[in-house]
Amino acid sequence: MKTILIANPKGGAGKTTLSTNLAGYLAAHAARQMRGDDVYLWDLDRQKSALHWLSQRPAQLPLIHRLDSAKEKTGNGWLVLDSPAGLHGEKLSDLLRRVEKVIVPIVPSSFDLAATRQFLNELADEKSIRKGKTSVAIVGMRVDARTRAAEKLDAFLAPVELPVLTHLRDTQNYVTAAFEGKSIFDLAPSVVVQDVEQWQPIIDWLNRD
Ligand SMILES: Nc1ncnc2c1ncn2[C@@H]1O[C@H](COP(=O)(O)OP(=O)(O)OP(=O)(O)O)[C@@H](O)[C@H]1O
Ligand SMILES: [Mg+2]
Repeated sequence: MKTILIANPKGGAGKTTLSTNLAGYLAAHAARQMRGDDVYLWDLDRQKSALHWLSQRPAQLPLIHRLDSAKEKTGNGWLVLDSPAGLHGEKLSDLLRRVEKVIVPIVPSSFDLAATRQFLNELADEKSIRKGKTSVAIVGMRVDARTRAAEKLDAFLAPVELPVLTHLRDTQNYVTAAFEGKSIFDLAPSVVVQDVEQWQPIIDWLNRD
């Protein structure tokens, strides 16, 4: 099981959006381009937004399994972990021991950058990350190029020694898809051309061991 944790203790950073779309991508493409394994989504947030999304998912779309406990047998495949706001300390350390990759979504606002700075420092001190057992990467969320906010995000991330995989634009495609239990990869291809392009670096990074 290849496990990917989506984490940022700042509320509204885009964790659930990233988790559900990642699960949607893996489900749609795993069979064809990747390892052909099952895809699982585990919602660690008490608000259960990701589970709610999964419960809305049309049955004819590529299957995403729901996972509720570490003890459940899952076999080979991909596990996406959506985490709650406020995740840190021992809970974070425990999770990091069990995942191969962490993606940190960041929204380019002053408040988000300040909160994320602390989280990135906390991550850097974690044993599994210091030892290189867990890789961490950053994804800019709701970033519109040529805005002041995008500039500020770039400046914030410049000295950070972590890969910044991509920026995902602010678009109703994510909002519309979420209402229907879909990912952007389940929408009409012509509508999401730009978004699919923006996702490619995430996919490339996941496939790197
Ligand atoms: N790229 C995007 N374009 C448009 N809207 C987005 C995008 N990414 C996230 N959103 C919206 O931003 C809001 C917050 O996103 P989301 O719920 O994924 O954050 P979260 O980190 O899971 O929040 P919480 O900390 O409450 O769990 C949601 O309304 C979501 O639809
Ligand atoms: Mg969430």
